[in-house]
Amino acid sequence: MDTIESLKAGPLPRHLAIIMDGNGRWAKQRGKLRIFGHENGVKAVRETVENSAKLGIEFLTLYAFSTENWKRPKLEVDTLMNLLVSSLKKELKTLHKNNIRLNAIGNIDSLPSKAYAELQEVIEKTSKNSGMVLTLALSYGAREELKHAIQEISLKVKNNIISPENIDDTIINSHLYTHNLPDVDLLVRTSGEHRISNFLLWQIAYAELYFMDVFWPDFREEHLAEAIKNYQNRERRFGKTSEQLN
Ligand code: FPP
Repeated sequence: MDTIESLKAGPLPRHLAIIMDGNGRWAKQRGKLRIFGHENGVKAVRETVENSAKLGIEFLTLYAFSTENWKRPKLEVDTLMNLLVSSLKKELKTLHKNNIRLNAIGNIDSLPSKAYAELQEVIEKTSKNSGMVLTLALSYGAREELKHAIQEISLKVKNNIISPENIDDTIINSHLYTHNLPDVDLLVRTSGEHRISNFLLWQIAYAELYFMDVFWPDFREEHLAEAIKNYQNRERRFGKTSEQLN
């Protein structure tokens, strides 16, 4: 088995993004309610955050709650929001210990006031940390993000702050929730589903995609290592030929 330590020497994704999927099915397999899966998913979040920081990943982004997830039963939404609050409270020490800075993307204003306040507090308290940036995508949807960016840019065009011919990647990037993050290098999705589900559509243009058969609550160091090892064996050409790269 590859360990985190053994992978440090190879090329690492600067920005790793994860679609944490399969909590519900993990619980169902055990004859339990879906929320049991989310509760157990928290352990995988904690381990993955610590292991990513130890590995030397600069940016880790986790899809924790999508704009579409609001449509789930109230008990499930409430549980996810409560887990967010309790995890933030509990993990502040771990974030500091690992020099991790917390960040959030999405329509954060739509979170319940308790979750919003706790999130802002931990973002503020970790803002001086200089290691890995952990971004939680909360009430996030890539189409919403793009609509929001287009509206802001359009307004600036209308007010003669930007001219249409100057709109380029840099301007678009600077209007996204992820304006302070680099493009995604590696996107991992657990649970065997092969979908992007409205996650970081602009930012994954050249990302390597890796789909794994493990349900999120079972995701451990060995699975992170497997995804990184696979990434290390890929040739990223960004539209060029192999010969041009060498
Ligand atoms: C997808 O599984 C998972 C989620 C919608 C939520 C992810 C949340 C956690 C791992 C726990 C809390 C997070 C933090 C950051 C503390 P699913 O419910 O869609 O599973 P299914 O596809 O099997 O139904």
